[in-house]
Amino acid sequence: MKKDFLCLSDWTASELEAIFELCRDLKAKTKARTAHRLLEGQTLAMIFEKSSTRTRISFEVGMFQLGGHALFLHSGTTQMGRGEPIKDTARVMSGYCDGIMIRTYSQAAVEELARISAIPVINGLTDLYHPCQIMADLFTVIEHKSNYRDLTYCWIGDGNNMANSWINAASVFGFELRVATPKGYEPDAEVMARAKKAGAKILYTKDPAEAACGADVLNTDVWASMGQEAEQQEREKAFVGYQINDELVARANDDCVVMHCLPAHRGEEITDSVIEGKHSIIFAEAENRLHVQKAIMATLMGVNRCS
Ligand code: CP
Ligand code: NVA
Repeated sequence: MKKDFLCLSDWTASELEAIFELCRDLKAKTKARTAHRLLEGQTLAMIFEKSSTRTRISFEVGMFQLGGHALFLHSGTTQMGRGEPIKDTARVMSGYCDGIMIRTYSQAAVEELARISAIPVINGLTDLYHPCQIMADLFTVIEHKSNYRDLTYCWIGDGNNMANSWINAASVFGFELRVATPKGYEPDAEVMARAKKAGAKILYTKDPAEAACGADVLNTDVWASMGQEAEQQEREKAFVGYQINDELVARANDDCVVMHCLPAHRGEEITDSVIEGKHSIIFAEAENRLHVQKAIMATLMGVNRCS
Protein backbone atom coordinates (compact mmCIF):
# COMPACT_ATOMS: atom_id res chain seq x y z
CA MET A 1 0.00 0.00 0.00
CA LYS A 2 1.29 3.47 -0.82
CA LYS A 3 1.92 5.93 2.00
CA ASP A 4 1.34 9.71 1.94
CA PHE A 5 3.01 12.56 3.84
CA LEU A 6 0.05 14.71 4.90
CA CYS A 7 0.49 15.28 8.61
CA LEU A 8 3.31 14.43 11.07
CA SER A 9 1.01 12.57 13.41
CA ASP A 10 0.22 10.00 10.68
CA TRP A 11 3.81 8.80 11.22
CA THR A 12 5.61 7.25 14.19
CA ALA A 13 8.75 8.73 15.75
CA SER A 14 10.85 5.82 14.47
CA GLU A 15 9.53 6.19 10.90
CA LEU A 16 10.35 9.92 10.97
CA GLU A 17 13.78 9.20 12.44
CA ALA A 18 14.43 6.82 9.53
CA ILE A 19 13.70 9.79 7.24
CA PHE A 20 16.26 11.89 9.19
CA GLU A 21 18.84 9.09 8.78
CA LEU A 22 18.26 8.94 5.03
CA CYS A 23 18.39 12.75 4.93
CA ARG A 24 21.81 12.73 6.58
CA ASP A 25 23.08 10.27 3.95
CA LEU A 26 21.55 12.16 1.01
CA LYS A 27 22.86 15.50 2.27
CA ALA A 28 26.40 14.08 2.54
CA LYS A 29 26.13 12.69 -1.00
CA THR A 30 24.79 16.00 -2.30
CA LYS A 31 27.70 17.92 -0.74
CA ALA A 32 30.22 15.39 -2.11
CA ARG A 33 28.50 15.48 -5.50
CA THR A 34 28.13 11.69 -5.34
CA ALA A 35 25.28 10.32 -7.44
CA HIS A 36 22.19 9.25 -5.52
CA ARG A 37 19.65 8.75 -8.29
CA LEU A 38 17.06 6.97 -6.15
CA LEU A 39 14.14 8.20 -8.26
CA GLU A 40 15.60 7.66 -11.74
CA GLY A 41 12.96 8.25 -14.40
CA GLN A 42 10.22 9.25 -11.93
CA THR A 43 8.06 12.36 -12.12
CA LEU A 44 6.65 14.47 -9.29
CA ALA A 45 3.64 16.68 -10.08
CA MET A 46 3.79 19.86 -7.97
CA ILE A 47 0.41 21.59 -7.62
CA PHE A 48 0.53 25.15 -6.27
CA GLU A 49 -2.55 27.13 -5.30
CA LYS A 50 -0.43 29.52 -3.20
CA SER A 51 2.92 31.24 -3.81
CA SER A 52 6.26 29.67 -2.96
CA THR A 53 10.00 30.18 -3.24
CA ARG A 54 11.58 27.49 -1.04
CA THR A 55 9.04 24.70 -1.50
CA ARG A 56 8.94 24.95 -5.24
CA ILE A 57 12.71 25.22 -5.70
CA SER A 58 13.65 22.56 -3.17
CA PHE A 59 11.22 19.95 -4.52
CA GLU A 60 12.17 20.69 -8.12
CA VAL A 61 15.93 20.64 -7.49
CA GLY A 62 15.50 17.61 -5.22
CA MET A 63 13.74 15.57 -7.92
CA PHE A 64 16.46 16.52 -10.41
CA GLN A 65 19.23 15.43 -8.03
CA LEU A 66 17.39 12.14 -7.41
CA GLY A 67 17.41 11.45 -11.16
CA GLY A 68 13.75 12.34 -11.69
CA HIS A 69 11.73 15.24 -12.97
CA ALA A 70 9.32 17.71 -11.35
CA LEU A 71 6.38 19.41 -13.05
CA PHE A 72 5.35 22.84 -11.78
CA LEU A 73 1.58 23.14 -12.08
CA HIS A 74 -0.03 26.37 -10.99
CA SER A 75 -3.67 25.59 -10.40
CA GLY A 76 -4.71 28.76 -12.25
CA THR A 77 -3.23 27.45 -15.48
CA THR A 78 -4.65 23.92 -15.22
CA GLN A 79 -8.23 22.68 -15.44
CA MET A 80 -8.27 22.53 -11.62
CA GLY A 81 -8.51 26.31 -11.70
CA ARG A 82 -11.64 25.95 -13.84
CA GLY A 83 -13.26 23.58 -11.40
CA GLU A 84 -12.22 20.09 -12.54
CA PRO A 85 -12.91 17.93 -9.48
CA ILE A 86 -9.93 16.89 -7.39
CA LYS A 87 -11.01 13.24 -7.65
CA ASP A 88 -10.73 13.35 -11.44
CA THR A 89 -7.40 15.17 -11.28
CA ALA A 90 -6.11 12.55 -8.83
CA ARG A 91 -6.96 9.66 -11.18
CA VAL A 92 -5.49 11.35 -14.23
CA MET A 93 -2.23 12.31 -12.46
CA SER A 94 -1.91 8.77 -11.10
CA GLY A 95 -1.67 7.58 -14.72
CA TYR A 96 1.15 9.98 -15.64
CA CYS A 97 3.22 10.63 -12.52
CA ASP A 98 4.86 8.81 -9.59
CA GLY A 99 4.07 11.30 -6.83
CA ILE A 100 2.19 14.53 -6.14
CA MET A 101 3.22 17.46 -3.96
CA ILE A 102 0.42 19.94 -3.31
CA ARG A 103 0.31 23.38 -1.67
CA THR A 104 -3.25 24.57 -1.14
CA TYR A 105 -5.73 25.94 1.40
CA SER A 106 -7.78 23.00 2.61
CA GLN A 107 -6.26 20.03 4.44
CA ALA A 108 -9.45 18.08 3.60
CA ALA A 109 -8.79 18.61 -0.12
CA VAL A 110 -5.26 17.23 0.27
CA GLU A 111 -6.65 14.23 2.14
CA GLU A 112 -9.20 13.64 -0.62
CA LEU A 113 -6.46 13.88 -3.24
CA ALA A 114 -4.41 11.31 -1.32
CA ARG A 115 -7.39 8.98 -0.84
CA ILE A 116 -8.12 8.83 -4.55
CA SER A 117 -4.59 8.97 -5.99
CA ALA A 118 -2.81 5.69 -6.62
CA ILE A 119 0.51 7.51 -6.06
CA PRO A 120 1.95 9.09 -2.88
CA VAL A 121 0.84 12.62 -2.00
CA ILE A 122 2.99 15.10 -0.04
CA ASN A 123 1.54 18.10 1.78
CA GLY A 124 3.55 21.16 0.74
CA LEU A 125 1.50 23.42 3.09
CA THR A 126 -2.18 23.87 3.84
CA ASP A 127 -3.95 26.34 6.12
CA LEU A 128 -3.72 23.66 8.82
CA TYR A 129 -0.24 22.11 8.48
CA HIS A 130 3.26 22.47 7.01
CA PRO A 131 4.82 19.06 7.83
CA CYS A 132 7.80 19.18 5.41
CA GLN A 133 8.94 22.43 7.02
CA ILE A 134 8.89 20.95 10.53
CA MET A 135 10.91 17.95 9.27
CA ALA A 136 13.54 20.36 7.91
CA ASP A 137 13.42 22.34 11.17
CA LEU A 138 13.95 19.27 13.34
CA PHE A 139 16.73 17.98 11.11
CA THR A 140 18.44 21.38 11.49
CA VAL A 141 18.10 21.20 15.28
CA ILE A 142 19.59 17.69 15.19
CA GLU A 143 22.57 19.05 13.24
CA HIS A 144 23.13 21.86 15.75
CA LYS A 145 22.28 20.16 19.03
CA SER A 146 22.51 16.71 20.55
CA ASN A 147 19.48 14.92 22.04
CA TYR A 148 16.90 16.97 20.18
CA ARG A 149 14.11 15.15 21.98
CA ASP A 150 15.26 16.49 25.37
CA LEU A 151 15.17 20.15 24.34
CA THR A 152 12.56 22.78 25.18
CA TYR A 153 10.94 24.29 22.08
CA CYS A 154 9.06 27.51 22.00
CA TRP A 155 6.58 28.92 19.47
CA ILE A 156 5.96 32.68 19.62
CA GLY A 157 3.35 34.42 17.46
CA ASP A 158 0.45 33.17 15.39
CA GLY A 159 -1.20 29.82 16.11
CA ASN A 160 -1.02 28.97 12.41
CA ASN A 161 -0.15 25.99 10.20
CA MET A 162 3.45 26.01 11.49
CA ALA A 163 2.33 26.11 15.13
CA ASN A 164 -0.12 23.24 14.52
CA SER A 165 2.63 21.14 12.95
CA TRP A 166 4.96 21.86 15.88
CA ILE A 167 2.21 20.64 18.20
CA ASN A 168 1.99 17.41 16.20
CA ALA A 169 5.78 17.08 16.36
CA ALA A 170 5.73 17.54 20.15
CA SER A 171 3.14 14.80 20.34
CA VAL A 172 5.06 12.35 18.11
CA PHE A 173 8.55 12.95 19.58
CA GLY A 174 7.60 13.74 23.17
CA PHE A 175 9.60 16.97 23.57
CA GLU A 176 8.42 19.97 25.58
CA LEU A 177 6.75 22.71 23.52
CA ARG A 178 5.66 26.09 24.81
CA VAL A 179 3.25 28.08 22.66
CA ALA A 180 2.65 31.81 23.15
CA THR A 181 0.00 33.53 21.02
CA PRO A 182 -2.31 36.51 21.55
CA LYS A 183 -5.92 35.82 22.48
CA GLY A 184 -7.93 34.94 19.40
CA TYR A 185 -4.89 33.58 17.53
CA GLU A 186 -4.46 30.26 19.34
CA PRO A 187 -3.48 27.10 17.45
CA ASP A 188 -6.22 24.84 16.07
CA ALA A 189 -8.28 23.62 19.04
CA GLU A 190 -8.71 20.07 17.70
CA VAL A 191 -4.99 19.69 16.96
CA MET A 192 -4.18 20.89 20.48
CA ALA A 193 -6.82 18.64 22.11
CA ARG A 194 -5.60 15.57 20.20
CA ALA A 195 -1.99 16.23 21.16
CA LYS A 196 -2.85 16.75 24.82
CA LYS A 197 -4.93 13.55 24.82
CA ALA A 198 -1.92 11.72 23.40
CA GLY A 199 0.13 13.00 26.38
CA ALA A 200 2.08 15.77 24.58
CA LYS A 201 4.01 18.13 26.89
CA ILE A 202 2.58 21.45 25.71
CA LEU A 203 2.38 24.61 27.75
CA TYR A 204 0.09 27.30 26.34
CA THR A 205 0.54 30.88 27.51
CA LYS A 206 -0.23 34.38 26.27
CA ASP A 207 3.11 35.59 27.63
CA PRO A 208 6.05 35.32 25.19
CA ALA A 209 8.57 36.00 27.99
CA GLU A 210 7.24 33.04 29.99
CA ALA A 211 7.45 30.80 26.91
CA ALA A 212 10.99 31.89 26.06
CA CYS A 213 12.41 31.61 29.58
CA GLY A 214 15.12 28.90 29.53
CA ALA A 215 14.08 27.60 26.09
CA ASP A 216 16.53 25.90 23.71
CA VAL A 217 14.75 26.58 20.41
CA LEU A 218 12.79 29.74 19.59
CA ASN A 219 10.55 29.69 16.56
CA THR A 220 8.20 32.12 14.87
CA ASP A 221 6.48 32.89 11.56
CA VAL A 222 4.68 35.77 9.86
CA TRP A 223 1.65 37.25 11.63
CA ALA A 224 -0.54 37.09 8.49
CA SER A 225 -0.21 33.88 6.49
CA MET A 226 -1.04 33.41 2.83
CA GLY A 227 -4.76 34.02 2.41
CA GLN A 228 -4.87 36.42 5.40
CA GLU A 229 -3.34 39.44 3.67
CA ALA A 230 -6.48 41.55 4.28
CA GLU A 231 -6.00 41.09 8.05
CA GLN A 232 -2.40 42.39 8.04
CA GLN A 233 -3.08 45.71 9.82
CA GLU A 234 -5.42 44.24 12.42
CA ARG A 235 -2.89 41.46 13.10
CA GLU A 236 0.01 43.91 13.45
CA LYS A 237 -1.91 45.50 16.34
CA ALA A 238 -2.88 42.19 17.94
CA PHE A 239 0.69 40.83 17.84
CA VAL A 240 2.47 43.78 19.47
CA GLY A 241 4.82 42.23 22.07
CA TYR A 242 5.12 38.91 20.21
CA GLN A 243 8.29 39.81 18.32
CA ILE A 244 11.43 37.69 18.60
CA ASN A 245 14.03 40.35 19.36
CA ASP A 246 17.33 40.45 21.27
CA GLU A 247 15.53 41.04 24.57
CA LEU A 248 13.37 37.94 24.16
CA VAL A 249 16.33 35.84 22.97
CA ALA A 250 18.21 36.90 26.13
CA ARG A 251 15.51 35.16 28.21
CA ALA A 252 16.21 31.83 26.51
CA ASN A 253 19.23 29.58 27.17
CA ASP A 254 22.60 31.08 26.24
CA ASP A 255 23.11 28.49 23.50
CA CYS A 256 19.55 28.69 22.16
CA VAL A 257 18.85 28.59 18.44
CA VAL A 258 16.34 30.76 16.59
CA MET A 259 14.32 29.49 13.65
CA HIS A 260 11.91 30.95 11.09
CA CYS A 261 10.48 29.04 8.13
CA LEU A 262 10.74 32.16 5.90
CA PRO A 263 9.63 34.34 4.23
CA ALA A 264 10.08 36.72 7.18
CA HIS A 265 8.77 40.22 7.69
CA ARG A 266 11.92 41.67 9.25
CA GLY A 267 11.01 44.17 11.95
CA GLU A 268 7.59 42.57 12.57
CA GLU A 269 7.61 39.04 14.01
CA ILE A 270 11.44 38.96 14.17
CA THR A 271 14.14 41.62 14.09
CA ASP A 272 16.88 41.98 11.56
CA SER A 273 19.46 41.65 14.31
CA VAL A 274 18.08 38.26 15.45
CA ILE A 275 17.92 36.90 11.88
CA GLU A 276 21.53 37.93 11.33
CA GLY A 277 22.63 37.18 14.91
CA LYS A 278 24.68 34.34 16.40
CA HIS A 279 21.66 32.28 17.51
CA SER A 280 20.04 32.19 14.07
CA ILE A 281 20.04 28.88 12.16
CA ILE A 282 17.44 30.20 9.74
CA PHE A 283 19.36 29.78 6.49
CA ALA A 284 20.61 26.30 7.41
CA GLU A 285 16.93 25.52 8.08
CA ALA A 286 15.97 26.78 4.61
CA GLU A 287 18.68 24.70 2.93
CA ASN A 288 17.55 21.58 4.77
CA ARG A 289 14.17 21.75 3.03
CA LEU A 290 16.02 20.32 0.02
CA HIS A 291 17.69 17.45 1.86
CA VAL A 292 14.76 16.40 4.03
CA GLN A 293 12.25 16.48 1.17
CA LYS A 294 14.56 14.31 -0.93
CA ALA A 295 14.48 11.81 1.94
CA ILE A 296 10.69 12.05 2.15
CA MET A 297 10.30 11.52 -1.61
CA ALA A 298 12.75 8.60 -1.64
CA THR A 299 10.89 7.05 1.30
CA LEU A 300 7.50 7.37 -0.38
CA MET A 301 8.45 6.80 -4.03
CA GLY A 302 11.75 4.87 -4.03
CA VAL A 303 12.16 1.13 -4.66
CA ASN A 304 12.47 0.51 -0.92
CA ARG A 305 9.49 2.72 -0.24
CA CYS A 306 7.56 2.26 2.94
CA SER A 307 4.21 0.52 2.69
N1 CP B 1 8.95 28.08 4.14
C1 CP B 1 8.31 27.94 2.96
O1 CP B 1 7.48 27.04 2.77
O2 CP B 1 8.66 28.84 2.02
P1 CP B 1 7.96 29.10 0.63
O3 CP B 1 6.60 29.69 0.92
O4 CP B 1 8.86 30.05 -0.08
O5 CP B 1 7.81 27.80 -0.10
N1 NVA C 1 2.36 30.45 7.84
C1 NVA C 1 2.92 30.81 6.57
C2 NVA C 1 4.02 29.89 6.20
C3 NVA C 1 4.71 30.21 4.90
C4 NVA C 1 5.77 29.23 4.56
C5 NVA C 1 1.83 30.81 5.51
O1 NVA C 1 1.00 29.87 5.53
O2 NVA C 1 1.79 31.70 4.69
